[in-house]
Amino acid sequence: MTEKPLLQTLRRMGPSRRPFWFMRQAGRYLPEYREVRAEAGDFLALCYNPKLAAEVTLQPWRRFGTDAVILFADILLVPDALGQKVAYVEGDGPRLEPLRDAAGVAKLQLEGLERRLAPVFETVAKIKAGVDEKTAVIGFAGAPWTVVAYMVEGGGSVQFAAPRLWAYRDPPAFQALIDVIAEATVRYLAAQVRAGAEVLQLFDTWAGLLAASQFRQYCVEPTRKIVRALKAEFPSLPIIGFPKGANAVLGDYARETGVDAISLDVQVPPAVAATLAPSVALQGNLDPLAVVAGGERMTGETGQILRAIPAARHVFNLGHGFLPETPPAHVEALAKMLREWKQGE
Ligand code: CP3
Repeated sequence: MTEKPLLQTLRRMGPSRRPFWFMRQAGRYLPEYREVRAEAGDFLALCYNPKLAAEVTLQPWRRFGTDAVILFADILLVPDALGQKVAYVEGDGPRLEPLRDAAGVAKLQLEGLERRLAPVFETVAKIKAGVDEKTAVIGFAGAPWTVVAYMVEGGGSVQFAAPRLWAYRDPPAFQALIDVIAEATVRYLAAQVRAGAEVLQLFDTWAGLLAASQFRQYCVEPTRKIVRALKAEFPSLPIIGFPKGANAVLGDYARETGVDAISLDVQVPPAVAATLAPSVALQGNLDPLAVVAGGERMTGETGQILRAIPAARHVFNLGHGFLPETPPAHVEALAKMLREWKQGE
């Protein structure tokens, strides 16, 4: 029997209290992160350095007493390890050489993937050794659609028109790319679990850009396959899905992918979410900007979420990651409120 509140909630075991952690809890808003980041050189070097990556993973846990730590890495390490080299440009986000045809798909190197990502698994082992018996270790990956969106576009975008257009123009080649990423993702996540991850989260940040027909094919289906493959190897492993922007098709995602919990973006009204998918746990969904604002707006919004979702099936979190301008003192106040909250208030 596990004692960890996060695992109790995700297994619907009647947790001792409502657990919390925050997306992007490690990052630039913390001065101690900026220090280690400067020591590492660039962002990718930090991701591939187990000692430093473990250190920044643990920083927010030490400060705020979160119920979980999330591996410090990035969703784009998968294309990087497949041979589509990624660079992070200061202030401008990730850059990749765009991949737009079947020949590009054929060049991706699945073989040796675990070897090239070995530093990440070493980070997982280090953070597992660094936390106490109440804290869960979360591993993660991008879901295939979101990773493919960056690979085809060649970087960030508002519309991600290039990958969506390719999916319409050449479905077999696009599907082949989704399949390679799904396969790589299963291998990447399975290795994280073997190294010590106890929960996994799949980030599908751009799920909301897909048309309804594309959503089923490129978000729900690959996620379902990944969940099935991982559960075949690790039957009691909880998996959280984050189909950001799914809105009207969020219920389909919750019912059909087999995830144990859905992470809600800021737009989903908590009371609606609570009725949406009775069999899954819910995570979310405070607006990260409310934490930048702080004070009564932050505590008011937080109280609304806490009242709307029953504690037994809720992991408190944000609706998206912390912003770099977030004052750490506001996060401290939020963590204190969450620790002291009594149901019925
Ligand atoms: O604490 C944690 O949440 C764990 C670490 C983590 C990072 N990225 C570190 C990071 C996680 C879980 C991610 C996921 C990720 N990465 C997503 C999905 C979640 C989301 O935010 O939507 C996406 C789309 C990416 C790709 C990515 N990585 C982008 C677009 C950028 C640039 C934008 C930005 O915020 O700078 C990154 C860089 C990145 N990943 C940073 C961090 C802490 C900032 C890098 C820095 O230190 O300069």
